[in-house]
Amino acid sequence: MNPTTPNDGEWLAGITRPNPTEADYEVTRIEGEIPRELNGTLYRNGPNQKILPKAGAGALHLFDGDAMVHAIRFDDGKAHYRGRYVHTESFDREQAEGTYCIGGIGVQSEAPLENPPPAIQPNTNIVPHANRLFALVENAPPFELDPKSLDSIGLWNYDGKLLGMSTTAHPKIDGKTGQMWIHGYQPIPPFIQLYCVEADGTVSLAENVDAPWPSMMHDFAISQNHVIFPLGSVTFDIEAMMQGKGFGEAIRPRDEVMKFGIRSREAGSETIWIDAPSPGYIFHPGNAYEEDGKIFMDACTYEDSAAVLQDISRVRSGKFGTGLQGHPYLYEIDLASGTCKETRLSDIAAEFPRIDDRLVGHKNRYGYAATAEPDDAPSAVFRRITKYDRTGAPSVNREAVEGQWVGEPVFVPRSPDAAEDDGFVLNLLYDAKRGETAVDVLDARALDREPVARLWLEERIPLGFHGNWLGA
Ligand SMILES: [Fe+2]
Repeated sequence: MNPTTPNDGEWLAGITRPNPTEADYEVTRIEGEIPRELNGTLYRNGPNQKILPKAGAGALHLFDGDAMVHAIRFDDGKAHYRGRYVHTESFDREQAEGTYCIGGIGVQSEAPLENPPPAIQPNTNIVPHANRLFALVENAPPFELDPKSLDSIGLWNYDGKLLGMSTTAHPKIDGKTGQMWIHGYQPIPPFIQLYCVEADGTVSLAENVDAPWPSMMHDFAISQNHVIFPLGSVTFDIEAMMQGKGFGEAIRPRDEVMKFGIRSREAGSETIWIDAPSPGYIFHPGNAYEEDGKIFMDACTYEDSAAVLQDISRVRSGKFGTGLQGHPYLYEIDLASGTCKETRLSDIAAEFPRIDDRLVGHKNRYGYAATAEPDDAPSAVFRRITKYDRTGAPSVNREAVEGQWVGEPVFVPRSPDAAEDDGFVLNLLYDAKRGETAVDVLDARALDREPVARLWLEERIPLGFHGNWLGA
């Protein structure tokens, strides 16, 4: 199937269709056997608009939708599912009004309110840290939930140290120290904020960072001693924003190479900006680490910033083109000379790169990502989970079948002291033909084999973004 045909687009639009049921049940339809050593909770997050605009779900931007958080708890060979909406003030107000009155990027409010609460949909990521659980989106501070019940607690302002308007959905938790690093960005100076939350939950750093231009900086990376800010070739059109244009219209491609902002993790450090060889945009780095005076960072890079911005706004309508093809790149940043080399690692489109979280900010050998089929290119339809090996060994692929989409792979070690890659890759499988969602448990060391277990969920989960594992 050619993924750019309308049928394929409609299919993709179909798996993003909302399902507002908040369910709570023991998972019973299990193929294979859940490994007994897999004990803990897989949290997932994604947009799931409850009250639709008149134009329907297809009119929403990919990033729009009330946040529904999903918790799949594994316990001694059994699994339990729980799904709950995140009750921000704007979500509760919209439910009370009973109309599409808050609005988003794709569709403005159809019944503007006199004193509207801030429109906050923390639908992008869900991250446990220091015994707390945060639902995250990049235009608001973190929203705290109860890790067991998923009950809403409220916005967290970094113990009063929040400097900007928001922080992103992509904190980086150092795999060795447990420190959670997170940044925020905004269209007005200072363009970037940086925070560090210690493993015990105390906020130890909150600083502003200057940048050459304001940009949608969706994610960033940490290495052992540094923070890496990928400044993509996109910027905010301040004039459009002043005219009241929404986020989708106010972000523009910029005809300039990407830059990487490098700063020490020490408080009060300066940031230096190093040119990448090419223009582009990075939604997600995989990992970064330091070796021989260099920072090595891998990422999924979109070479055409204009195309990705345009296509991402069309995903739900099914009319996207080839702009959604990001490719794996390796960036080699020489700290002494202030130069950067780039290598395109594969011609197969990839997204949602993850690693063994115990190695975040440290040297890793393996990486996992959702990838397109080689003969499907150009594609944004991810039907494979791919495992990459830095030593140059061939990639290993777990293929889904036609009509199925795979999402972000989450690695879970077999035990706390298991070797890298000795564990499971958890992945949500969206099956368009069945109209159902499954959780696949793959053996990371035998990724190309059938899943160890496939758990069919009773309620379809609309296509979401990110998730994380919290061990029991
Ligand atoms: Fe993301």
